[in-house]
Amino acid sequence: MTNIVLFGPPGSGKGTQAKRLCEKFDLVHLSTGDILRKEMNERTPLGKKAKAFMGKGELVPDRDVVEMVAHAIDSHGYANGFIFDGFPRTIAQAEFLDEMLKERDTEVHYLIILDVTHDELVERLLKRGQIEGRTDDTPEVIENRIKVYHEQTAPVISYYRNKGKYFPVNGIGSIDEITERIVQVMQG
Ligand code: AP5
Ligand code: MG
Repeated sequence: MTNIVLFGPPGSGKGTQAKRLCEKFDLVHLSTGDILRKEMNERTPLGKKAKAFMGKGELVPDRDVVEMVAHAIDSHGYANGFIFDGFPRTIAQAEFLDEMLKERDTEVHYLIILDVTHDELVERLLKRGQIEGRTDDTPEVIENRIKVYHEQTAPVISYYRNKGKYFPVNGIGSIDEITERIVQVMQG
């Protein structure tokens, strides 16, 4: 199995790159943001609860998120590996993921972080907001998502760096160029 955590601030290209890497390496794309948006659209109890947090750009509570991820991993018993996109976002989530993978005799092999400047993130997300209408792509919520990333999510980087699994990638350039940079990391 190959398990990748695709990491980076909002708008850094996690979703865009995850889709391409999954095809190339036959991995399962597990995006907590996508799952939560689906729950929200279907108005499930979790979706209703998550809506209040997502609308403000705050994190959904760890307990709800890990339960959801456990369920998603279990439903792909024979996967070749996973690309985790937007997860883990706190140390507690990272510890949970390690344990869950250990029970399956596997681990996170790479934390790939997409480095993108603040101005470029905001520009990409405002543009996406106009095109796709994601409700959290508004100036105020974008700024809060970036702030939450720095305050609550960035500590996850040192968690993996201490385990020798930290691989920064320049996230600015064409989508193809960035995919190529990630592939180079994975091919060591
Ligand atoms: P989530 O859905 O994970 O959103 P996010 O982290 O804010 O990231 P985005 O999806 O906005 O960006 P991305 O990095 O995927 O970039 P993309 O490829 O789309 O989370 C949403 C919310 O859900 C959170 O705020 C939280 O409330 C909740 N949540 C989710 N997971 C959680 C968790 N684990 N714990 C707690 N709460 C959680 O690219 C962005 C745009 O740029 C696109 O339009 C794309 O076309 C464009 N683009 C991509 N690459 C390039 C490039 N190279 N050049 C130019 N444009 C590009
Ligand atoms: Mg995304």
